[in-house]
Amino acid sequence: MSVKDKIFDLPVLFDVVRWCVLGSYRPMFGNLTKFVDHKDDETVLEIGCGTGIFSKLFRKYYTGVDFFEEFIVNAKKKFPDKKFAVMDAMNMDFKDKSYDKVLLLNFLHHMDDDEFEKVMKECKRIARKGVFIMEPVPQKYNLVGRVLYSLDRGKHIRDFFLLKDMLNSYMKVKRYHMFRSLFYKLVLIECV
Ligand SMILES: C[S@@+](CC[C@H](N)C(=O)[O-])C[C@H]1O[C@@H](n2cnc3c(N)ncnc32)[C@H](O)[C@@H]1O
Repeated sequence: MSVKDKIFDLPVLFDVVRWCVLGSYRPMFGNLTKFVDHKDDETVLEIGCGTGIFSKLFRKYYTGVDFFEEFIVNAKKKFPDKKFAVMDAMNMDFKDKSYDKVLLLNFLHHMDDDEFEKVMKECKRIARKGVFIMEPVPQKYNLVGRVLYSLDRGKHIRDFFLLKDMLNSYMKVKRYHMFRSLFYKLVLIECV
């Protein structure tokens, strides 16, 4: 196991390192809240929820799943009022149309093209209203950003137009919104 894996496998370090390279979570939280426009009675499923940092933006009906048990244990401790479960995105057994909104936040670049297809077909089956995606956007002229992206454990950070085309082949891209968070450029996408 590499030093990078050892660091990112520790929930507290994972949270702290990300907070530093993003210059706080505020831009992600603010932009996501506005973009998703969540209503209190809507059910939300986050696939690849990590340590659950986004769960606090959703009031009652939030469920987060991740295949890494340590992250889920940490998320349950931090957010005892939310639901979390250890689950592999490649092997989910949620019923058809069982959640209003499905979230894939900083997750799809961990999927190769075959896994991407599987996940998007599952999201389309599970979501009643829409699928909301947040992904880093490659930046040609931001050297610090490029170095940070190269250290990311997700090896499939895709060009925005490629990502949009890939998403459009499984669902319809309804709208998107780009924003910055220190060295990162991120895009939010709604698929219906
Ligand atoms: C960069 S983290 C994002 C975590 C969270 N969404 C956030 O933005 O704070 C990517 C997460 O995807 C999870 N992951 C990767 N492949 C997965 C899979 N096949 N099934 C479930 N979770 C997976 C990892 O364990 C990790 O927690």
